[in-house]
Amino acid sequence: MVKAFTLKAYAKINLGLTVLASREDGYHDLQSVMQQVSLSDTLLFEQASGKGCNFLCTDKRLSGSENLVSRAAAILQHRAGKDLSGVKITLFKNIPVEAGLAGGSADAAAALIGLNRYWSLNLDDKTLLDIGAMLGSDVPFCLHGGTALARGRGEILQKLPPLPFFWVVLAVPKDTAISTASAFNSFDKTKMGEPSVKPLVEAIERGSKKDILSWCARGFTNTLETAVLPQSGELKSIKESLKKAGFSPALSGSGPAMFILTKNYREARDAAFFVEQENARVYLCWITSGSKEW
Ligand code: C5P
Repeated sequence: MVKAFTLKAYAKINLGLTVLASREDGYHDLQSVMQQVSLSDTLLFEQASGKGCNFLCTDKRLSGSENLVSRAAAILQHRAGKDLSGVKITLFKNIPVEAGLAGGSADAAAALIGLNRYWSLNLDDKTLLDIGAMLGSDVPFCLHGGTALARGRGEILQKLPPLPFFWVVLAVPKDTAISTASAFNSFDKTKMGEPSVKPLVEAIERGSKKDILSWCARGFTNTLETAVLPQSGELKSIKESLKKAGFSPALSGSGPAMFILTKNYREARDAAFFVEQENARVYLCWITSGSKEW
């Protein structure tokens, strides 16, 4: 029987992110409220001749052995200690690359889940989370999905109640590229620990849409913004225009993607239209809850 199936790989936003301290291993301790959204890539798994994993991406720049999907496959093969049957993975890329939306991490998480199934490895959730953390700080959250408070370098997760439904408008500046490492390394160390994500966590625990929107409206929800905004005039100007128009854009991860939560579809559509006028890429999606208990 020919084996073929697809899996979705969902993007994430950081509803809040606080850098707490630099670490000796080059990472930073943080606290972040992470939320899965409906914007997704798709991975197609197909039977292939030969052994091991053959990986292709619709965005040619992302094909090859350095992609986290290939690296996930290599780790699983190494753990198995034997040649595993041939599989071809095609990644249909849709999530913007290097935008702070964890697109690459989401692909890695979907690859781990898909290959665990394809190769019948029977690895449990804890093992997949540990392998995910080896691939990148956001991969465990992408395996987890839903809403979570992330600690450590992002890999220690505490499940939070599902967020009430919001439409999400993503604004991605066209000509801004910011590496995660440079964002972490260039922020003002005296700002460590601010803003505390505690009010956000409490608002989520109360299930209060109003308080979650108030958190986003405070304008400073992510420590990394202080490091990233000065690096990009484009990002700064899009943020200012959106604020002037009455929206509350917040930076996701190390950016440059910003997100706006909206109460209803009409407001989301208005925000999306406005973002388009600003010459940024716009994605209209919604928050999603993880389907799996971890
Ligand atoms: O874990 P990931 O590969 O996504 O991290 C990319 C880079 O971002 C790291 O090499 C590090 O420089 C920086 N980083 C950090 N602290 C974190 C996560 C990432 O300094 N918690």
